[in-house]
Amino acid sequence: MIGQHLLSVDQLTKQQVVTLMDNADTMRELDHKHIIASSGLAHTNLGLLFFEHSTRTRISFEIAARRLGANVILLQEAMSSTQKGESLTDTVCNLVAMGINLLVIRHMQQGIVQQLAEQVGRKACIVNAGDGAGEHPTQALQDIYTLSHCVNSLQSLRILILGDILHSRVAHSLIKLLVLMGVTDIRIVAPKNLLLSDEKQLKGTVVHDRLTEALPGVDVIYILRLQQERFSDQVGTVIFDQSSYIKNYRLNPSHLSLAGNQVHIMHPGPVNQGVEISHQLVDSDQSIILKQVSLGIPMRMAILTALSSPNMIA
Ligand code: NCD
Repeated sequence: MIGQHLLSVDQLTKQQVVTLMDNADTMRELDHKHIIASSGLAHTNLGLLFFEHSTRTRISFEIAARRLGANVILLQEAMSSTQKGESLTDTVCNLVAMGINLLVIRHMQQGIVQQLAEQVGRKACIVNAGDGAGEHPTQALQDIYTLSHCVNSLQSLRILILGDILHSRVAHSLIKLLVLMGVTDIRIVAPKNLLLSDEKQLKGTVVHDRLTEALPGVDVIYILRLQQERFSDQVGTVIFDQSSYIKNYRLNPSHLSLAGNQVHIMHPGPVNQGVEISHQLVDSDQSIILKQVSLGIPMRMAILTALSSPNMIA
């Protein structure tokens, strides 16, 4: 499908994304026995290596893999030999030597999952579950899949991405995937010091200074968390005024009247209620945040299946 590893949305073609979405739909329809029989993952050893906190992504992968019949092996950093000074590469090579040939890895260091993939080559298949502020391809795929269920057409979609774009691996993957899928109205709103400095990464988007100016007519508002744990890594010590952020960038009920009536609110989680989004909006009728979470499972089932049997995708 994607070569052998899934590290970045750059590896995908539009047709592959469409096929993944179709296969995710099939996963939702098939019963348990059929899924295991057709997945090619039955009894495959799948390692979940999360060197950074995670609730949704880790559990979503775990449920997806178990539904496909895989043996799921969890490596907890605090209990692993990386605590005794072993390099991550050695840890991964040892796991592969024990027959774990599908590895889902999250790490706070940007680029490290790609390095590990180079190291293991074709001996195993690695999925990037988030590398620092780099990429998060499976989240972007679950978001596109959610959008395909909630809007009439991706081509005519008008989407606003709001918040800490600079540190968001979700946004970095999502912007590229939206462009790949033919979305032409992608609006970005972020404080200047949380905007991507690399123009190339904003290709296909229009940056607006003010939230009120970007809202008219949007179908979807995609909100990002302030990823303060990454601030110092990326931009030195950022002096950040959270109260001014809340004043200028938090999505409040009053903003919704400026957007289309049917606007959908998305967020990859974890949500800091009251900071990037007001409490009332998280559970509002417009929120599809939990739908994103639910649809992440069939999409990850489709992704794991495609990686384990390349012929699944033409
Ligand atoms: C995001 C992540 O970890 O990159 N969440 C997720 O995977 N669902 C977003 C975030 O941490 O804010």
